[in-house]
Amino acid sequence: MGPAIPEPRAVWRGVVETFRERLGLPADAPAVTLLEGNTPLIPAPSIAARIGADVHLKFEGMNPTGSFKDRGMCVAVSGALAAGSKALVCASTGNTSASAAAYAARAGLRCGVVIPDGQIALGKLAQALIHGATVIPIDGNFDDALGIVRGLAARGDATLVNSVNPLRIEGQKTVAFEIIEQLGGRAPDIHCLPVGNAGNITAAWLGYTEATELYGIDARPRMWGAQAAGAAPIVRGERVERPQTIATAIRIGNPASWQGAVDARDASGGTIEAVTDAEILAAYRLLASTEGVFCEPASAAGVALLLKKAEAGEVPAGAVVVATLTGHGLKDPDRVVQEIELPDSASADLEVVAARLGL
Ligand code: F0G
Repeated sequence: MGPAIPEPRAVWRGVVETFRERLGLPADAPAVTLLEGNTPLIPAPSIAARIGADVHLKFEGMNPTGSFKDRGMCVAVSGALAAGSKALVCASTGNTSASAAAYAARAGLRCGVVIPDGQIALGKLAQALIHGATVIPIDGNFDDALGIVRGLAARGDATLVNSVNPLRIEGQKTVAFEIIEQLGGRAPDIHCLPVGNAGNITAAWLGYTEATELYGIDARPRMWGAQAAGAAPIVRGERVERPQTIATAIRIGNPASWQGAVDARDASGGTIEAVTDAEILAAYRLLASTEGVFCEPASAAGVALLLKKAEAGEVPAGAVVVATLTGHGLKDPDRVVQEIELPDSASADLEVVAARLGL
């Protein structure tokens, strides 16, 4: 007899089955799942040493389609199936469409996607198409696209799976439950994350609020939201008609969950501030080069804000900080190619290679 095969370390059943009691789904809703969730909370020792706090990265880029959207999409699509829907629609800056397309394929539903033409990172567009969504690029921005799909859903033609669908928020709130478990039964002191359409900050705050009851903990984090300086309606207190930023995922001028974000900020004693594209890219590079974690530019916005506030002396010494990294770096190949230098080719010769490597 050979050695015994070990039992699996843990069986993860995905967001719907793990948190079913708390998601507001009908009891008989099927679980449409790609085993999303259970993403790693990665310590960030280099950033921690730099700012004198205890910093962790909740790497949502490890979800099946490479972003946090899967956490809410599985719940929204399970709900759509339970309601007898045959088609999904969404507007997107990219990740929502990738996630909706994947879960629609899984569930056997049609998926229609409306995007701002030329403003979607290539990896995300490729995902939506390979999963079989019908993608319509429009000569407008995300906010225009959201208006169109809201209209389609209102006509009863399809289920809207943007985060204005409450089941998306229900699913996304589970990130807070996982963080508390991964920190050994406590909430962080500060939670940093990027803010675009503002569903995610709304959802994370809802999760922390429910967790105080679920886990009997009494402290919730301060929510620190980061908007890109050229697309910062909540910071400025007014719509931005022509939002601009290299962080295309959060290029949004009129967030649907604006009020939810303001409530999360105010109830948590937190803040929503702007970071420049240069600050976002500096954080993006720092995460990749010192922590070994490659996220997409928008995902680095929360860390950019953390670094900025640390510089200003606003991060208490030893604070437990969690930053959500919302999407994987491979989503946006064009951006990374602009940030690096592609190497010249060398002859296939050991000495030449050794010299180039300085070995
Ligand atoms: N980070 C990434 C990578 C995103 O894709 C998004 C939103 C956000 C942050 C902001 O989250 O909208 O809940 O405040 N992407 C949406 C999309 C808009 O269509 O993929 P939010």
